[in-house]
Amino acid sequence: MRIVSGIQPTGSLHLGNYLGAIRNWVRMQDELPEGGECLFFLADMHAISMPHDPASLRKGTLELAAALVACGIDPARSILFNQAQVPAHAELQWLLNGTARIGWLNRMTQFKDKSGKNREGASVALFTYPVLQAADVLLYQATHVPVGEDQKQHLELARDVAQKFNNDFASEDAPVFTLPEPIIPPAAARIMSLRDGTAKMSKSDPSDMSRINLTDSPDDVMKKVKKAKTDPEPLPSEKAGLEGRPEALNLVTIYAALTDASVEQVLAEHGGQGFGTFKPALGELLVETLAPITKRFTGLLEDRPALDSILAGGAQRARAIGAPTLDAAYNALGMVR
Ligand code: TRP
Repeated sequence: MRIVSGIQPTGSLHLGNYLGAIRNWVRMQDELPEGGECLFFLADMHAISMPHDPASLRKGTLELAAALVACGIDPARSILFNQAQVPAHAELQWLLNGTARIGWLNRMTQFKDKSGKNREGASVALFTYPVLQAADVLLYQATHVPVGEDQKQHLELARDVAQKFNNDFASEDAPVFTLPEPIIPPAAARIMSLRDGTAKMSKSDPSDMSRINLTDSPDDVMKKVKKAKTDPEPLPSEKAGLEGRPEALNLVTIYAALTDASVEQVLAEHGGQGFGTFKPALGELLVETLAPITKRFTGLLEDRPALDSILAGGAQRARAIGAPTLDAAYNALGMVR
């Protein structure tokens, strides 16, 4: 089992991300069967497909690397790196550009969404983004790729590319690429803004009170939870009672995600409580979970050499794993090297 997954370093580091992709990766690492391997990378090369600011990309890459380690990705067990330090991703993408079809890319819903009405003005990188993503996983002979539901189509494209390349350029008993299986985790908890239960928790929200950041102090966390928007009703004992109460649902959802329980289980325990009781309980739970993460996170950010060495070490291991596949691909295509 070889698990490969990437994350763009453009997001923000708040509770929503932690309870989403990051915690999921940590679980995969911790539950990996004997002999398995995890490669997790920061997709900094994908990040230039949209207009971007170089200083923010650099900062975002380092922060996300620190956050991943702080949240439990162990660089001794998992291979953690950024794409830009492994040129084989870009090389293999070029080789796969010969196999991927324009028609396949034209059908990608993410390209349509992100280019919007201005298709002609979109970058070529945005169009060929899925081919780089295919290279990301095929380079390492990934067997499993954990991704959100929104990335399923990109995974299917990676399988199509691998299949066509193998058909066109490899013999049946010696395929160049492994067809990766997606692992779509059970829908990650959708964490919403603390000020508006209908909007996603996001770094672009102008109010810092709307989100819990991985850098917030325990006092800030408590304050934000206590000031979170709610309604005057106590918590119901059944999920149906949360209908039309998005802010109440959000707080219960956060509590459930943190305790690995279902919303139903949380309500069975806390139903009947008013927010004057429930909010402090949630606040304490958050502080307990986040305090050690925040400590490791800020510690790492202040130790740039340590962070650099983690990424360099990961990249070195990744280059070694990818090299034979890249060679095989060049060779299959008839390139003299
Ligand atoms: N496109 C993915 C996302 O936005 C990130 C990504 C890039 C990725 N390369 C990958 C995910 C390879 C899985 C495997 O979420």
